[in-house]
Amino acid sequence: MKEFVTITIDDQEIKARPGEYIVDAARRNGIYIPTLCNMSGVKPAGSCRICTVNVNGRLMTSCTTPVAEGMEIETISQEIADFRKTVVELLLIEGNHFCPSCEKSGNCELQALGYRFEVMVPRFPYQFPKRDIDASNPKLIKDHNRCVLCKRCIRTILDEEGHHIFAFRYRGHQLQITIDPEYGMNMTDELAQKAAKNCPVGALLYRGKHGFEIPIGKRKYDKEPIGSDIEKLKKVKIS
Ligand code: SF4
Ligand code: FES
Repeated sequence: MKEFVTITIDDQEIKARPGEYIVDAARRNGIYIPTLCNMSGVKPAGSCRICTVNVNGRLMTSCTTPVAEGMEIETISQEIADFRKTVVELLLIEGNHFCPSCEKSGNCELQALGYRFEVMVPRFPYQFPKRDIDASNPKLIKDHNRCVLCKRCIRTILDEEGHHIFAFRYRGHQLQITIDPEYGMNMTDELAQKAAKNCPVGALLYRGKHGFEIPIGKRKYDKEPIGSDIEKLKKVKIS
């Protein structure tokens, strides 16, 4: 097996590890491709589509597409920018995202993507769905209004015996995240905090803390736009 493959991203030739996903190869080389459902090191779900890039002339999700020798990838174009902005707008109108009163404001990846893509007023009508807030778990509050169904909680939150704490229930527009009644009740504080942290929006809130401990204005994306940490990365060479 080859030690590396050569690909081109935005006219820049880079070396990538065989089997590596495009989004990760780009990231290592300081090229930011926006993501929402994806988490580095976690099996991709490919559900949000915001990481879409042009691969050899076709639009594909970069978090689920492994690199291949000679691939030509375009991450920035008017078409891609419009597509990504539309995805953000659709997510914003599909749920009830009341940013000013959200504990995650300033740390929320959806909000940060909205700023990055200069979303002012979505071009689509707000749906204002009626969704509940579930406070039955002792460790977490689950707010279905803000959930973007990214599955990050399902994929990353397992107890010590490997049981999944989160799952989907119902179908279609009623699809929602649920917490296993048995494993969820025995969830450790550490795991509950990890779930709240891994949720890209404010749909999972840890109950063991006071709200707004870090004031709005002093949070991660209040300071720097999303993706700027990657864009600052120096190129990492594969030895
Ligand atoms: S609760 Fe959060 S992490 Fe889980 S699916 Fe919804 S948005 Fe994603
Ligand atoms: S980040 Fe790739 S589909 Fe969501």
